[in-house]
Amino acid sequence: MIEIRNVFQRFAGPNGGQVEALHNVNLTIPQGEVFGIIGRSGAGKSTLVRTLNLLTRPTEGDIVVNGRTLTSLSSGDLREARREIGMIFQHFNLLSSRTVYENVALPLELAGMKRAQIDEAVLPLLELVGLTAQKDRYPSQISGGQKQRVGIARALASKPKVLLSDEATSALDPETTRAILDLLRKINRELNLTIVMITHQMEVIKQVCDRVAVLDAGRVVETGPVLDVFLQPHHEVTRALLGDVIAQELPPTLKARVVERLAKGNAHLLRLAFKGSGVDQPVLSETIRRFELDFNILHGQIDEIQGQAFGSLAVLAGGDAVKVAQAMAWLREQGVVVEELSHVE
Ligand SMILES: Nc1ncnc2c1ncn2[C@@H]1O[C@H](COP(=O)(O)OP(=O)(O)OP(=O)(O)O)[C@@H](O)[C@H]1O
Ligand SMILES: [Mg+2]
Repeated sequence: MIEIRNVFQRFAGPNGGQVEALHNVNLTIPQGEVFGIIGRSGAGKSTLVRTLNLLTRPTEGDIVVNGRTLTSLSSGDLREARREIGMIFQHFNLLSSRTVYENVALPLELAGMKRAQIDEAVLPLLELVGLTAQKDRYPSQISGGQKQRVGIARALASKPKVLLSDEATSALDPETTRAILDLLRKINRELNLTIVMITHQMEVIKQVCDRVAVLDAGRVVETGPVLDVFLQPHHEVTRALLGDVIAQELPPTLKARVVERLAKGNAHLLRLAFKGSGVDQPVLSETIRRFELDFNILHGQIDEIQGQAFGSLAVLAGGDAVKVAQAMAWLREQGVVVEELSHVE
């Protein structure tokens, strides 16, 4: 388990000022979870991940990993504790003069392990990440996805309990990203390894994380199980990251018509979200029939999150205001999350 308690991180800024990269961050990451941290560029994600293993010491606050308060350890004990925390990077950080095998072996050599023991540790790791056949190649002779597999195997060599990943798939194409995320999920399950995934892509969160925290300007603005956050995002930054802001999805002419109808007050803009079996229930047509409304579907998408179907729809509901309110109440009874959006920007 990782606990981030009241963490502030301030750096010297321009003109003798200060940059507050993290402001009172509090998070608890249970053992064995894949925990996502998402935010826009400059939100403080890399600062947070560097603070987690004390590459950068927090200005205030504590980091507790598996019951040990890293922020109060001596430098010797900290070095020891860091062996339990592996890390992978966007640009892999491999040594170009060493083979795949030798890159993975490096942390073990540095720890003074003997050749035979190193062999015993490295070969199963190469097997785990699917690189047995490439073990004698150099980084320049393998693909980006394979390089990240080397990075993962190297991070696992010292048998960490926690793996920190800072944008580990950002340099990869979507298909390779998917394969790497599947591998991380497999490792998480097989080794009960806690993984902290830093990313700016909701796709990554959707595919692999159990829980997510949204960081904005150094603050945690939203946190919860991934499905809940997708179903009902509370913070504007989360909505923007979800790409679910209706205004972004609507063609300009349609948007103008929606704005006009909302201004006249004879229509209601609703966002409906469904999960599980709700997705394939004919709930919309039933609503239209029951309440004699006219529903214009403006935008819709269906996804899968952790094996659960999840859908969201933006609809413009025309008709009597009382009936719209009744329809909203009825939809909620059917397990649909309904929000009325007052405007499109
Ligand atoms: N060593 C430093 N000295 C001064 N300011 C810093 C330092 N490190 C980070 N910052 C500032 O802290 C803020 C957060 O930076 P950080 O790198 O954590 O963002 P990020 O969320 O990782 O962004 P990106 O998605 O672009 O990687 C930024 O305003 C950055 O300029
Ligand atoms: Mg960063």
